[in-house]
Amino acid sequence: MSGGLLSKNDLRARSELDEQGYTLIGGIDSDEDAERTLQDFGLLVPQYDGAVRNQVKAVPGYENYRYSKSVNTILVHSEAPGWNPPPRYLALHCRTQATCGGGHTDLVEAWPFVASLPADLRDQMRSQVVHWPGHNTAGVAGKGACAPMIQATGSGREIVRFSYNLLTRGHYDPPIDGASDLDALPLGQVGVALAERAAGFFAERRTRILIPERSILIWDNQRMFHARSAYRDSRRHLTRYWLAEDSPAEERTAERASADPTTTDSATRDRPGSGS
Ligand SMILES: [Fe+2]
Repeated sequence: MSGGLLSKNDLRARSELDEQGYTLIGGIDSDEDAERTLQDFGLLVPQYDGAVRNQVKAVPGYENYRYSKSVNTILVHSEAPGWNPPPRYLALHCRTQATCGGGHTDLVEAWPFVASLPADLRDQMRSQVVHWPGHNTAGVAGKGACAPMIQATGSGREIVRFSYNLLTRGHYDPPIDGASDLDALPLGQVGVALAERAAGFFAERRTRILIPERSILIWDNQRMFHARSAYRDSRRHLTRYWLAEDSPAEERTAERASADPTTTDSATRDRPGSGS
């Protein structure tokens, strides 16, 4: 896989990733296989806890939270919107698949959703700056980024950030039950309206994937929204990876210029591909 000579399988995966925003690759038996395969798509980068691998498995203590280490539904979002830039690709390596009928990874492309919006909401996504926290429930990594939901890079490509939970509850991983203070939400009623529209669009248009064991699902996190369905099979176990792309210098410069000037996010600053 290495050395720049892509196999037929890699070329198929690359082309699917470009065309539909995601791809599934099979025959991945180990962490080493996963890393070798993913290196052809980008640079593996540290996640919230500083490690390049995150074990997505339900553990006690999060039963009442919409959090990756619970069995609960996680609603529409993009990964790590508080990173600057957010990881280009996300990858989930399935070690043990849920057999209860749940635990799907759901994907939908963001741009048709944006196109479906009335012009005023579309404009809000491009103009209203949101403070995106740089950490989740268990993570300690960064202090966040300030950026609109749709942001242009230096080369003109637009990238998307989104979190239903942040817009409606003010937190990435909120308790399932609990009230929200509208005044404390990032965009108040406008953000709630966008979140509800995104949830409706997602429910209608999502692609539902139950990742097979020994396979990796890779998707473009700057273009796709994702979510997870609830499950009961506590054996379910995935390993998550974040990948940065080796982006052109002009994109890195623009992304650095748009970083939150009030924070010094050492994890982001030191991350390969973050422009520093
Ligand atoms: Fe996620």
